Amino acid sequence: MAALVSVEGIEVHFPIKRGVVLDRTVGHVYAVDGVDLEIQRGETYGLVGESGCGKTTLGRALLRLVEPTGGRVVFDGTDLSTLKGEALRKMRRRMQMVFQDPLSSLDPRQSVESILVEGMRAHGLDKDRESTRKRLRELLSAVGLPESSLRKYPHEFSGGQRQRIGIARALAVEPDLIVADEPVSALDVSVQAQVINLLEDLQQTLGLTYLVIAHDLAVVRHISDRIGVMYLGSLVEETDSETLYAQPLHPYTRALLSAIPVPDPEVEDSREQILLAGDLPSPAAPPPGCRFHTRCPWRQETRCDTERPALREIGAGHRVACHYAEDIEAGRITPHEVTAELVEATSTGGPEVSHAVSVTEIP
Ligand SMILES: Nc1ncnc2c1ncn2[C@@H]1O[C@H](COP(=O)(O)OP(=O)(O)O)[C@@H](O)[C@H]1O
Ligand code: SF4
Ligand SMILES: [Mg+2]
Repeated sequence: MAALVSVEGIEVHFPIKRGVVLDRTVGHVYAVDGVDLEIQRGETYGLVGESGCGKTTLGRALLRLVEPTGGRVVFDGTDLSTLKGEALRKMRRRMQMVFQDPLSSLDPRQSVESILVEGMRAHGLDKDRESTRKRLRELLSAVGLPESSLRKYPHEFSGGQRQRIGIARALAVEPDLIVADEPVSALDVSVQAQVINLLEDLQQTLGLTYLVIAHDLAVVRHISDRIGVMYLGSLVEETDSETLYAQPLHPYTRALLSAIPVPDPEVEDSREQILLAGDLPSPAAPPPGCRFHTRCPWRQETRCDTERPALREIGAGHRVACHYAEDIEAGRITPHEVTAELVEATSTGGPEVSHAVSVTEIP
């Protein structure tokens, strides 16, 4: 199986500008800091991690909606950084995005019909009235909405229906890849499964390839073939979804999984609970060495503080970025408590990033 997308050493560093005219760069937000991954044709790759770890930025860099600082993205054999203007625009048709909040990503003044036709028109797929009408009917039926929806406006729909419109808009231009960024995070739990099922059905019938982004491991579990776990701009673990849940090897993945409640009270009581102390460090001042060492219960002096672990393959298709993954797995080193004091002591300072952040984005 050839990879549809191959991300090679991608970096997105946003400059932090200061000063009256914002012309002094005082630092960088290392939003994405060296990610390698491949997405195979027809598969669903789930990308998970805490809010702020760089998932959205990685998704946008993959579609070249934000210019990477380094590395490259190869889509179906073409290095996207070599494309400009019309060629890039044409390639973009094949890569569509579905957003977290359909209400803010759909123009409230546009009817559903005009939302759907817009993209088709931009890519010359709106040839004649008859075939366009037929296509619109097909799209609505594919996402489970009645034909009468065409004349309505986004506010007339529920959250779940709006996300169906967002999906139909992505499908309208016949993409190969859909990057779905937290596609169900804004929806009621009862509706989440319906939208996930819809995405799965569409993948089956249309042969789509997905990158599904979520901060919640439970959301990507069933839909994903493979999952990548992100922490502070990098992948820390990647494997097929069954293995990830059955045998997580990176301490961060273990902590994330231990935070998901298990319905069986006996299992819930007996299983390992790993509390993550402290907040995600600032991506403007990522800790040296292993980025997770400020919060890691297995941290070993002094290697973890000084040497950044590479993402290495330690089982078939199972990649982990931890120096001690094998020792932790075998129980040769045991976890210790991570206190607030330790987090404080091992954290690094760095420029404040809440204000005066300016970036260059490609529209
Ligand atoms: N356009 C931008 N300019 C500056 N910083 C940004 C920009 N977009 C995101 N960031 C910063 O990059 C980091 C990663 O953000 P994001 O990719 O949105 O993470 P996630 O989607 O995992 O929550 C955050 O610290 C965020 O504040
Ligand atoms: S390299 Fe060290 S600090 Fe990082 S996850 Fe492994 S044990 Fe923890
Ligand atoms: Mg995000």
